[in-house]
Amino acid sequence: MDFDRIPLLGVERTPLLYLANLSKYLGGPEIYMKREDMNGCIGLAGNKLRKLEYLLADAVNKKCDVVVTTGGLQSNHCRATAAAARRVGLKPVLVLIGEPEEPLKGNLLLDNLMGAEFVFGNDYDLMDQLLEETVENLKKKGHSPYVIPLGASNGLGTIGFISAAKEMSVQLEENNVQPTWQVVTTGSAGTYTGVLLGSSIPDTLGISVVASTSEIKDRIKSLAVETCQLTGVELDISDFEKKIKVDDTYLGEGYGIATDEGVKAIKLLAEKEGILLDPTYTSKAMAGLIDYIKRGIINAGDKVVFWHTGGQIGLFTSSLPGQRLNT
Ligand SMILES: Cc1ncc(COP(=O)(O)O)c(C=O)c1O
Repeated sequence: MDFDRIPLLGVERTPLLYLANLSKYLGGPEIYMKREDMNGCIGLAGNKLRKLEYLLADAVNKKCDVVVTTGGLQSNHCRATAAAARRVGLKPVLVLIGEPEEPLKGNLLLDNLMGAEFVFGNDYDLMDQLLEETVENLKKKGHSPYVIPLGASNGLGTIGFISAAKEMSVQLEENNVQPTWQVVTTGSAGTYTGVLLGSSIPDTLGISVVASTSEIKDRIKSLAVETCQLTGVELDISDFEKKIKVDDTYLGEGYGIATDEGVKAIKLLAEKEGILLDPTYTSKAMAGLIDYIKRGIINAGDKVVFWHTGGQIGLFTSSLPGQRLNT
């Protein structure tokens, strides 16, 4: 089944890079990187644009005039949604949890530049309620709001990452590379679910940066069911369940709190490859990959693709533990 899509990436395909220095340093497995952080035609990119291409096409088809979504104060998803909404001529309304401080920084600064309307709350448990109230208020004012769920992770959004996985399969074939593993960070789980549904790489490891392994696995299962119902693809759920590999070991103290191992991974990638990871998502996933290699679960004979999902704006808003000037 075909779904309408508004191209937002600004590139035909995101690059697939071989990380020669990192591979050598880590003792053997060939490591490749799919650069979803480089789809930066608008709003500084990242993984959310893949999902928003489908969701905003739906918003336009439904003749909505505002796009409402939610996240933390420094949400990459909200910033990408604000940019994408502006690009298609819609107004972004963001329900953000946290207390804003001036001067504005990072994603919140960018949201503000893009003229997003803000509704602030201070309790994650009341986020859905606040979102509903905001939608009702917009309707009362005569608007037709389109609601995008947390992380843009619903069935339609997940289709974006099925296409990204298929795009990568072609790149791998062109380069004659057959990976044995792929590693991706996971939060609201649409990225992982799409990547798993769309590719045939034997092992897909999701490093959770938000919740426990079992919670994330449940999200992935229900998203896969929703996505396959939407696309009309038959899903053997018990077979699919066996393929889900999620690890919450690298989460540390919690969502949005950088870990020492993650910061070491940021430094390693910057020094070996000149590539910047982010403190909340990709650094923890890279810390997981490095540890899997150290423990021999991924070994010298393997070929691994690491999905870089973006988020580097977080480098400028967090204080990273243990960092000193090089001397
Ligand atoms: C930079 C970055 N990487 C990864 C993710 C996680 O993707 P998903 O929510 O689809 O699991 C997010 C989600 O906000 C993100 O901002």
